[in-house]
Amino acid sequence: MHGHGEVHGHGGHDEADEALLAEVLDLDAEVLHSYLAEVTGLLADLTADAPPRRILDLGSGTGTGTLALLQQFKGAEATAVDLSAEMLRRVTAKVGAAGVAEDRVRTVRADLDADWPQGLGPVDLVWASASLHHMADPDRALAELLATLRPGGLLAVAEMDASPFPRFLSEELEAALGRPGLEERLYAAVAGQHAEAVPHLGADWGARLTAAGFAVETERRFDIRLSAPLPAATGRYAQATLRRLRDRLADVLGAEDSAALAAFLDEEGPQNVLRRDDLTVVTSRTLWVGRKP
Ligand SMILES: C[S@@+](CC[C@H](N)C(=O)[O-])C[C@H]1O[C@@H](n2cnc3c(N)ncnc32)[C@H](O)[C@@H]1O
Repeated sequence: MHGHGEVHGHGGHDEADEALLAEVLDLDAEVLHSYLAEVTGLLADLTADAPPRRILDLGSGTGTGTLALLQQFKGAEATAVDLSAEMLRRVTAKVGAAGVAEDRVRTVRADLDADWPQGLGPVDLVWASASLHHMADPDRALAELLATLRPGGLLAVAEMDASPFPRFLSEELEAALGRPGLEERLYAAVAGQHAEAVPHLGADWGARLTAAGFAVETERRFDIRLSAPLPAATGRYAQATLRRLRDRLADVLGAEDSAALAAFLDEEGPQNVLRRDDLTVVTSRTLWVGRKP
C-alpha cells in the first residue's frame, strides 16, 4: 500500500486501499487547487526564459501533477512513472477530459526502488510530489534524477511534513461532539506507523537535494487553511481521508474514538462529514526547486 499515511511495502498489495488512495489524490488536487495553481505558476516564472518541453512526473499517482503541468506548459509532453498500473490507467483515462492531447502523455510502469527505467531522459523538468518519501533510497533516486535532467534542468519536489493528513475537525467541533483532541490522537497513532513504514516522510529535502548535487533555488512552504465557504469536494475529501485512517488504525484506537470516527463516516447518520458545513482543511506542503548545474 502507498499513499499519504501509507503503509509501505511491495507485498500484500491492497486494491481497496489503492482505490481509496486514488480518490484522495484526485480530491487533494481539487480541494487544494489554489496551491497546485500557485506551484505551477511559480515553475512557469522560474522557466520563463525556456519553458520545459520534456517533463517527468515521478510517482505520478493519478496524474494530477502531469495534467496541471501540461495545462501550464502548452508546448510540453510528459512521462508519468509509477509503480502502480492502476494509477497509470487513471492518468491515461483523464487526459482527454483535461483538454490535453493524448500524444502528449506517456506512462511508464516501474518500481523505482529496483532498476531505474531506461530512456526517461533527458528532461527539462522533473515533478516529484509526495513520491520521494516512498523510495527505499531517495538519495539514489535523486542521483538518478540528476542524471536524467539536462544541464540547467529543474527538479521540483513537493512534500508533506511528518504529519501528512489534513485536519478537518476544529477544536470547537471536537469539543461540541464530546471528543476533544480526536484528530490529534489519530495522527499520533498514525505517526507511530509512519516512523517504521515511511521513514523519509518529513525529511529535509533541501539538504538532500544539495547533497545530491542540485543547486537549490527555491524553498517555499505553503500553509493551507481553508474554512467556510469550502470547495464543494471537501466533504468527500474528509470522508475518504478519515476512512483511510479508520482502516489503518482499527486495532489501536480506543472504543470512544472509534465510535466517534464511525459516526463521522456513517453516511446515513446526522454527523456524517459529507453533510457538514463546519469542516476545516488545515495542511501544509513544502516545495523545493533544485537546478542541475
Ligand atoms: C502519495 S502518492 C503521490 C501521487 C502524486 N505524485 C500526487 O502528488 O498526487 C505516491 C505515488 O508514488 C508511487 N510509488 C510509491 N513507491 C514507488 C516506487 N517504488 N516506484 C514507483 N512509484 C512508486 C505510488 O504508487 C503512488 O502513486
